[in-house]
Amino acid sequence: MRRELFDIPEGVIYLDGNSLGALPKHVAARMQEVISHQWGTRLIRSWSEGWWEAPQRIGDRIGRLIGAAEGQVVVGDSTSVNVFKALMAAVKGTTRSEIVVDESTFPTDGYIAQSVGELTGLKVRAAQPSSLDINEDTAVVLLNHVDYRTGAMLDMAELTGQAHAAGAPVVWDLCHSAGVIPIRLDELQVDYAVGCSYKFLNGGPGAPAFIYVPKHKQATFENPLSGWNGHRAPFAMEASYDPDPGIARARVGTPDILSMLALDAALDVWDDVDMQVVWKCGLSLTAQFRTHVTRLTSLEIITPDEIPRGNQISIRCADAKNVMDELIARGVIGDHRPPDVLRFGFAPLYVTSGDVLRAAEILAEIVN
Ligand SMILES: Cc1ncc(COP(=O)(O)O)c(C=O)c1O
Repeated sequence: MRRELFDIPEGVIYLDGNSLGALPKHVAARMQEVISHQWGTRLIRSWSEGWWEAPQRIGDRIGRLIGAAEGQVVVGDSTSVNVFKALMAAVKGTTRSEIVVDESTFPTDGYIAQSVGELTGLKVRAAQPSSLDINEDTAVVLLNHVDYRTGAMLDMAELTGQAHAAGAPVVWDLCHSAGVIPIRLDELQVDYAVGCSYKFLNGGPGAPAFIYVPKHKQATFENPLSGWNGHRAPFAMEASYDPDPGIARARVGTPDILSMLALDAALDVWDDVDMQVVWKCGLSLTAQFRTHVTRLTSLEIITPDEIPRGNQISIRCADAKNVMDELIARGVIGDHRPPDVLRFGFAPLYVTSGDVLRAAEILAEIVN
């Protein structure tokens, strides 16, 4: 859709935007300006010339892509840390006894849920999304919108509704859906959401994550990490913690400005992009890859064919690591997940139908 805006090396077919998004061309020059002008020349003054509010301002830019109105998304920390904040806030004061986590969750979410369980005395129950059994014991439900391994996508409307019917809040991890799927957080009355910005949002390696806390939850959102950036008046240097009334209360400490401003620059490629068009384009690319791989090889595709699904195709392959090494040596960059999964991500902004065909042909040459 916008490939001309990206710096993809000659001869490379980049199918790993679900792990590390590609570099938008203008980011390097913007960072040069940030470093030499904002840091080099303006020095400390830059904090009051846009740096201090950057987490909320950039949060709003991401909010537009995930169906959140302004003032509800803030950027900072990692997804893991934001999962911790959201879960702790969600279970604060609960009289219920369990945290429900989808059983195929990305590991960090499960580990963090375990820590929250240990800190709060709640037990963690792993369940299949098709039978979560959310009930009056459930204090919170933590779900991955798109499965990192298979690309299967959960029904956010249905599962959020199920949790609410049982009186439980839900935390959605959007790492693999932000920037590919039209998400409707406000409309679906999602309680909390978190996600990273280094995958389909192209924010760069280790770019800060985001957290969504809707307006009506902000007054009661208790950030378990009560750092000074979340204070109502950070520069009053008060001895006691008094949280900001708005989304800034989800902040913790001083933001990593260089990384954050690289993300800010990278988000320019999303200006005026319609997520419905991105979604259709992604579905078409994954469908084309599926067709070519099925025609050219006998490999088993484990990503579900039905819609909705995420923007990746995962393939079972006994010798996944060596096959991926060979693919990369031949210019097709995807990745593999142990023990036997080849993963290919299709970022609609810069992957073309030509890339899809050529990648399938090279894969077939290697495995046949
Ligand atoms: C679903 C999901 N959650 C969380 C993470 C990682 O979180 P963090 O940004 O804390 O490393 C990933 C990374 O791939 C992920 O796929």
